[in-house]
Amino acid sequence: MIGRLNHVAIAVKDLAAAASIYRKTLGAEVSAAVPQPDHGVTTIFITLPNTKIELLEPLGANSPIAKFLERNPDGGIHHLCYEVADIRAARDQMKAQGARVLGDGEPKIGAHGKSVLFLHPKDFFGTLVELEQA
Ligand code: CO
Repeated sequence: MIGRLNHVAIAVKDLAAAASIYRKTLGAEVSAAVPQPDHGVTTIFITLPNTKIELLEPLGANSPIAKFLERNPDGGIHHLCYEVADIRAARDQMKAQGARVLGDGEPKIGAHGKSVLFLHPKDFFGTLVELEQA
C-alpha cells in the first residue's frame, strides 16, 4: 500500500543554521523558509535526487515539535513521510489493522498542498509516520 518515501523530516532549533549546513557542507539544493502557521512549524525543503529532507523549526507557542526539541536539544529525525495513492482508503485500511491515526483522523493540507495524516509512533516502532496523498 505505501508508495515512495516522500521525505524525511528533521526537527531543528535554528532553521537558518541547518539550511546553511545542507547548502554549504552538503552542497544540497535548499528551498526558502516557509512559515506554516496551521502546523506550528516553519519548513525548508532540501531536494535530493531520490527524495526530500524537510527541516522543521518551531513556530508559535504551541508548536507540536517544541516538546521533541526539549527531549532532543540537538535536533533529530522527527518523522518519515510515505506517499499513498488514496489517503482515505489507506487510513481506513490501517485503522482496520489497529493503527492509530493522530488528531481527528481527517486528512489535513500539508506542506506541499496535499492531504496528509499522521500515525501514532507507538504503532510503528517509535517512528512518527506521515502519509501524503500522492
Ligand atoms: Co512531513
